[in-house]
Amino acid sequence: MLIKYWICANVLENEEIEMTAEGLEGVVVAETRLSDVDGERGRLVVRGHDVEALAERADFEAACALLWTGELPGPVAHAEVRKELGRARVRAFARLPSLGDAFETADGMEALRAALAHLRASELADERLATELTAAVAVFAAAWARRQRGSSPIAPDPELGHAADYLRMASAHGSDPARSRALDAYLVTAMDHGMNASTFTARVVASTDSDTVSAIVAALGALKGPRHGGAPGPVLAMLDAIGEPGNAAAWIAAELAAGRRIMGMGHRVYRVRDPRAAVLERAVERLRATGLRSDRLDLARAVERVAVASLGERRPERRMAANVEFYTAVLLDAIGLPQELFSPTFAVARVAGWLAHVAEQRESSRIIRPSSHYVGPVPEAPAAA
Ligand code: COA
Repeated sequence: MLIKYWICANVLENEEIEMTAEGLEGVVVAETRLSDVDGERGRLVVRGHDVEALAERADFEAACALLWTGELPGPVAHAEVRKELGRARVRAFARLPSLGDAFETADGMEALRAALAHLRASELADERLATELTAAVAVFAAAWARRQRGSSPIAPDPELGHAADYLRMASAHGSDPARSRALDAYLVTAMDHGMNASTFTARVVASTDSDTVSAIVAALGALKGPRHGGAPGPVLAMLDAIGEPGNAAAWIAAELAAGRRIMGMGHRVYRVRDPRAAVLERAVERLRATGLRSDRLDLARAVERVAVASLGERRPERRMAANVEFYTAVLLDAIGLPQELFSPTFAVARVAGWLAHVAEQRESSRIIRPSSHYVGPVPEAPAAA
């Protein structure tokens, strides 16, 4: 049975607890102005904008400004954010030689975590912290990917938008307006999503009054897991293994019979299709209209239909549908990012949300400190003196 508690309130301290909320499902831990996920209706609102509308009208810079200030920027403010992010990418690139052996790993999230851990909050100007960290994630992810392919990193072009420059630095195919627009749609769609695990992690660290770099490094660790941000790589592997629509039913039945989860399906909050899946599916459709290769779109749609039907038959009481990761895999593949960059690219987007949440959490002076229900052994009470 679930209970709703404000964790910030100390009501659970010193109280006998009879119920637990496993996985904190349904537990409200903060008031936020940043985003709201309506799992029953399949609606995501980011600072007053439906995600579908936001992805149509905002690029990454505009959405950052919205998250960090509450307002979509006009042309002057937009140019300022773009310029600041560009300059910050250049500064992040200059830090590459000081990152030690951070990139000597085949796991991009491990590389990002190690690289960001080299940054010192005390050396980053407070007023630029958000742009510095946002830029650093993109530059470090792209440099790590180049290193994986035995190439040296490509220096940022501060004149470009963040999405176009990231694509230019990270993809073997460079960037062009159509693919940059598709990446912008992805970044805007993925940058914030209620109290997800990595955002909660960032807020817990911020609530201890620790520094912002620590909060972002901790959040990266949470995002790394396949139940959170690690799913799009396995989604692509699944589509490759299925190969063609006619194989989907047998492949999915075998996975479920073996007790494995279908990646890109199911969600803690959504009981209907994740609205972000539709935004990304549409973005891939548009790419296809410009003549770009997106072979996997039809296959993905077929696999989605089969997966939803199979999961529905298995668990009719717990509706499961495609989540954001399902079409993330299709989109990132279509724009030419390699599979090993899928999770790091999620971090390129989500870091903007983490930073907004860290700033919001700092408005509270209360440490996030929930309770647990001890079920281990207890020594006999000490004899009375
Ligand atoms: N495929 C098959 N079964 C799934 C499933 C999936 N994708 N997602 C959940 N289930 C099943 C679980 O096996 C569990 O069954 P059980 O009660 O018989 O053990 C039940 O549904 C509830 O799972 P639970 O882990 O409690 O749900 P959750 O709400 O905590 O989990 C996710 C949400 C996202 C972690 C989960 O749906 C999942 O692992 N999805 C695949 C990974 C993924 O796409 N992650 C990206 C999320 S954006």
